[in-house]
Amino acid sequence: MFDVDTLIADCHIAIADPDPRGAIRELLVTTVENHGDVADVLAKDEAGINVLFNSPELTVLNVIWAPNMTLLPHEHRMWAAIGIYGGAEQNIFYRRGTGGIQAAGEKLLETGDVFGLGVDAIHSIDNPRGTPTGAIHVYGGDFVNTPRSLWDPDTLVEEAYSMAKVQAIFARANEEWHAQLGTDLDESAH
Ligand SMILES: [Fe+2]
Repeated sequence: MFDVDTLIADCHIAIADPDPRGAIRELLVTTVENHGDVADVLAKDEAGINVLFNSPELTVLNVIWAPNMTLLPHEHRMWAAIGIYGGAEQNIFYRRGTGGIQAAGEKLLETGDVFGLGVDAIHSIDNPRGTPTGAIHVYGGDFVNTPRSLWDPDTLVEEAYSMAKVQAIFARANEEWHAQLGTDLDESAH
């Protein structure tokens, strides 16, 4: 059975490995193999970034993406790994160039997939489905307090990462999601 305390303990063992990034990816692979068990514990009907653990060396998040929501381009300034336990996550990658950032690739992650991101990665995320997505995101550092950048999704102008701005995006996505759920419930009632 999946258990958050065991996951966090195993993450601590993994980051002490000579190859912490590889050890975390292996841990996520075995974790999301049993994605149904993980979803039983972590799935929610509210989009958001839920902090399961945070320290200067390690951050573990339970990220819930609302149906079809998009999160603007951002960076982490630390390595990361993503494991999907439900739904799908479309990552768009960017690289810094003259005059800003340019899209430089994409990766669709499905349930059971695990993907590692380098220290310099810049990405935006779409949920390409009309159903929610659940993902475990692990970071090799203090994701909560490390200063970093995000980029305006329309102009791609760089600015300081703002948790308030990100939370506003999730709040809007939740409004749309729950309005849609209300519509579906109304329709099924008639
Ligand atoms: Fe990210």
